Amino acid sequence: MAKPAITRVLVTGGAGFIGTHTVRRLLDQGRTVLVLDDLRHACGEPVPEPARLVTAELSSEEATAAIRKFQPEGVIHLAAQGGVSRSVRDPAGDARVNVVGTAAVARAAVDAGCRRLVFASSGGSIYGRARRLPSREGDREQPLSPYGAAKLACEGYLGMFRRTFGLSTCALRYSNVYGPYQDGTGEAGVVAISIHRLLAGEPPRVTGDGEQTRDFVFVGDVARANTIALDARTTGACNIATGRGTTVLEVVATLCRLAGQPGGPEHAPGRPGEVRHTHLAVERASRMLGWRAEVALADGLARTLVSFRERQGRQAGPGATAGG
Ligand SMILES: NC(=O)c1ccc[n+]([C@@H]2O[C@H](COP(=O)([O-])OP(=O)(O)OC[C@H]3O[C@@H](n4cnc5c(N)ncnc54)[C@H](O)[C@@H]3O)[C@@H](O)[C@H]2O)c1
Repeated sequence: MAKPAITRVLVTGGAGFIGTHTVRRLLDQGRTVLVLDDLRHACGEPVPEPARLVTAELSSEEATAAIRKFQPEGVIHLAAQGGVSRSVRDPAGDARVNVVGTAAVARAAVDAGCRRLVFASSGGSIYGRARRLPSREGDREQPLSPYGAAKLACEGYLGMFRRTFGLSTCALRYSNVYGPYQDGTGEAGVVAISIHRLLAGEPPRVTGDGEQTRDFVFVGDVARANTIALDARTTGACNIATGRGTTVLEVVATLCRLAGQPGGPEHAPGRPGEVRHTHLAVERASRMLGWRAEVALADGLARTLVSFRERQGRQAGPGATAGG
């Protein structure tokens, strides 16, 4: 394998769901990795060795000092307050982490001589209720939540850091990411929540009629996009998705089948204001990054289920019986 162009990489949020997969990939490529994460929503897997962890809040003096000392050539900025509903309840708290934190990390990176910053943006929440699908990077941004507005604001900051400070920046607008280590106990992430319920012996829950569609992309594909974007020169926004919408009902039904749950899902009332359909165009990622999603949905769901089961087995400990 050719030596990557950028060898010293700071990963913020590297103890989280997407971060853990991204850090593993960077290490496999022979890069030196520093993880900055205050562990408020760590995924529970140890930070992969030999990456070093600095436990600090994004805009703290400790974080700034650690970035200056490490002198990253590149940053993959994943740390965020990721709850859309929480952002509605507390827009200022969301902005403190997602906007102020991003500005602080970008400034510290510039001061440390960093050349490249890849940012985890969000397609689903930036495009809002799209007039036409798939949503393209040039389409009008119409966020419906403080979380989406913060992601868009960050993209504005990144453009400024590029123009004013010469930092090469790229915002990857992920669609709905799923896979091993995702939190299944929160409010969002239908795959993880459904598996969590299935493993607890409960039927998964579908909100509304389940015919709403989402663009489900496997976390391994997203980690690969992050590392490709790090070495690329592409700037601006780039969707990272499969380009296909799948109904929530289909996803949940597939999980029930894979888990051997005969009853199927139960239905809960729909969420008022929820976007009905979303999926993202992937031509720019293909053209500019040479990236496309490779893991088919059924395969990704099966891998995720296996991983959740293994984890449950590990947590139950060696003394647990298969049925216990
Ligand atoms: N999961 C998805 O479907 C999805 C979709 C679109 C965009 N994104 C974005 O991708 C990124 C990673 O998402 P994820 O699903 O892995 O989230 P995650 O919550 O699993 O990981 C985020 C990590 O950041 C850390 N963190 C949060 N706030 C911090 C702070 N102020 N200081 C230091 N560390 C902090 C948490 O402890 C956690 O380890 C986020 O920016 C998220 O908004 C995720």
